[in-house]
Amino acid sequence: GAAGAAGLVAGGAGGALGVSAAQTGPQDAAKAVTSIGSTEVPFRTARAGQQAGITTPLQATGHLVAFDLAPDADRRTAAALLRRWSRTAEELMAGRTPDADTGVALDAGPSSLTVTFGFGHSFFGRTGLTKRRPVQLDPLPDFSADALDAGRSNGDLWIQIGADDALVAFHALRALQKDAAGSARLRWQMNGFNRTPGATAHPMTARNLMGQIDGTNNPKPSDRDFDERIFVGRDAEQDWMHGGSYAVVRRIRMLLDDWEKRSRHEQERVIGRRKDNGAPLTGGSETTPMRLDASGPDGLPVIPANAHARIAAPESNQGAAMLRRPFSFHDGFREDGAPDAGLLFVCWQADPLRAFTQVQRKLDRGDALSRFLRHEASGLYAVPPAAEPGDYVGRPLLE
Ligand code: HEM
Repeated sequence: GAAGAAGLVAGGAGGALGVSAAQTGPQDAAKAVTSIGSTEVPFRTARAGQQAGITTPLQATGHLVAFDLAPDADRRTAAALLRRWSRTAEELMAGRTPDADTGVALDAGPSSLTVTFGFGHSFFGRTGLTKRRPVQLDPLPDFSADALDAGRSNGDLWIQIGADDALVAFHALRALQKDAAGSARLRWQMNGFNRTPGATAHPMTARNLMGQIDGTNNPKPSDRDFDERIFVGRDAEQDWMHGGSYAVVRRIRMLLDDWEKRSRHEQERVIGRRKDNGAPLTGGSETTPMRLDASGPDGLPVIPANAHARIAAPESNQGAAMLRRPFSFHDGFREDGAPDAGLLFVCWQADPLRAFTQVQRKLDRGDALSRFLRHEASGLYAVPPAAEPGDYVGRPLLE
């Protein structure tokens, strides 16, 4: 899954922060580089007050990291940590360097840096806040195809870092890690990437490592029901989550050796869309709606019954929808020689049970893509709204 037609791709039309090299011509190379570096994402979005990094266009580099609180840490420790983290994130996203800086990003601009904070299920027990734990954080069910590594799953706290420059992203990660010293320690870290802004001449939806255009049918911020589907509403039981969202994170390894042996024709039938331009097999362009009821001369559906896009579509899931905003990953090679590569699938929704879980249950029963995938790690996090000016992320929960 991915992010894209919603304007989430760097350079995509209508993105909240549209500046990108893809919008400038190659003759403008120097200017393009400058604008990539100088692009700043506000720590508090004007939109519905949500944190940056959800509707922000996909960045070229990402780090996903989870922390566990130190054994003697309590709610006050966590509050102080979130205060430090929020200040650091706000400074770095504005292109300023914190005290005692490492200098790693000294000569770079903010480069669309975003830092997004979330709380895992275990956080609430550790801090005596179980009464304020949303039911939406109840553990995800087991899926038949899961092969999850507990050490790389869940965690008390989660941070998503994204930037269009790898040094800027690393710099942010180091600064946040130093802020955590004594209060929390890293549980796991995953590193991902997307296309570099300016790598294609025309703005387009992202491609994943299977070569598919991925993110086409994401909900779009201009959709009437976008906020309702992606962000937690006012009627939520836990008022500290109003305007927040739930992130599901899955490390999904792709069995690329198997996949790449399939013909393009077969690969396209696995998804139900063309590889070159992402158009549905029922015709048109990338943005043409799929005609799920169309059948061919043989009487069979043109978009196969087990095609990934058919099975995952809101039409097949009582309207369930999520905003997919992933990074690709490549962590070298496995002992068997196969690439350890795939998708750091991140999806955002107001209610994971009615979005990710509902759809993954259906995919798990056997969509055509599943046999080329292994889900290896999993996390579910409550991502509160952005902090008010002068405040820190999560204060309404932690104070
Ligand atoms: C659509 C790839 C995992 C949910 C798609 C599309 C591709 C794709 C190529 C069609 C283009 C588009 O609309 O984005 C992948 C790959 C995956 C993966 C390579 C794993 C490595 C998942 C998972 C879920 C998911 C785990 C959710 C549980 C969706 C949804 C759509 C979609 C909701 C849009 C369907 C529609 O409305 O047309 N995916 N996907 N995908 N995928 Fe995935």
